[in-house]
Amino acid sequence: MSNTSKLFEIGKKVDPIMTKYLIEGASEDFKPILLHQIEAGGKRIRPAIVLLSCEAAGGNPEWAIWVAAALELIHNYTLLYDDIIDRGELRRGKKTTRAVYGDAMALLAGLHYREAINKLINRSPASYKLHELISQAIIELTEGERLDILFEQAGRTENYITEKRITTPSWSLYLDLIQKKTASLLIASARAGAIVADAPPEVEESFSKYGLNLGIAFQVIDDYLDLFGKEEKFGKEIGKDIKEHKLSNALILLALEELDYKNKEKLLSILRKESSAEEISEGIELIKSTKARERAINFAEERVKIAKTAINFLPDSNAKTLLNELADSVVKREV
Ligand code: IPE
Ligand code: IPE
Ligand code: MG
Ligand code: MG
Ligand code: MG
Repeated sequence: MSNTSKLFEIGKKVDPIMTKYLIEGASEDFKPILLHQIEAGGKRIRPAIVLLSCEAAGGNPEWAIWVAAALELIHNYTLLYDDIIDRGELRRGKKTTRAVYGDAMALLAGLHYREAINKLINRSPASYKLHELISQAIIELTEGERLDILFEQAGRTENYITEKRITTPSWSLYLDLIQKKTASLLIASARAGAIVADAPPEVEESFSKYGLNLGIAFQVIDDYLDLFGKEEKFGKEIGKDIKEHKLSNALILLALEELDYKNKEKLLSILRKESSAEEISEGIELIKSTKARERAINFAEERVKIAKTAINFLPDSNAKTLLNELADSVVKREV
């Protein structure tokens, strides 16, 4: 078995637990809505990190199974909302929950997920500390999503958004955004494993550094694949960041640094309107004409190195090897 499928098998261990906690107390008619997204697929990276971090920190991963399921449900809960916010149609190669059942049902599913997450944390050891950890992560993620909306260059007319819109973001503001919208949950996943293992604070800190750097690399690669991936593998629509007017894509930001005035204005104008498929392809070609792709990959590779170095002090174990493999797989996925 390849290590990628081994990692997937580890993460997938949470599936029956997620299903059990999700359908508990739900009406028969609501169940398909609640299960739609988790049954659509997903890489199960976050629960794999929880279980492996627990084991690598000297704990018994069996005790981390509930919080691992909770972390995957938090991820799915935020995706339900993200697709409402971004008007997403395709995820994991299937129609999104909102596309099938509508925004109102997807919102309610999100609320239901949040309660299932609480129940899972209550069932975990160190539940008080874990509740604090996940609340903090969700608060950060919410702020990340708020910033992501402000990075949009068109598409919404609310005064709050048009007044606060960010039109010339720095790279460090982009990093702050992705740290919040994506890395926060990978940090919480790695930390949760250490907490269940009852590891000392400095070990928890090291896992935090692993999650932070992995999360940043992960989002930069997600941005890459959004423009240059293959829809069948990526499971999401290619070019959707341009369609959604997002300046919060690493490749777009890096390309804008390099393009001459005329082409820069061209790319920005494509971002600022309801562009056709041809115009989106034109935007992608402009990005392709710069060094943005290789710069993004080099940047992500550096972050993966930092992530691996952060946990290097741990005694050698199968779990540690797999955490390193998982970090490598983030950059290698379909690039
Ligand atoms: C998608 O995350 C959202 C981002 C943080 C980029 P994943 O790529 O982990 O999504 P699934 O769970 O595999 O579908
Ligand atoms: C991903 O945001 C992070 C979340 C908090 C859900 P995106 O908007 O980039 O995610 P995708 O590309 O739709 O998966
Ligand atoms: Mg989205
Ligand atoms: Mg989004
Ligand atoms: Mg994305």
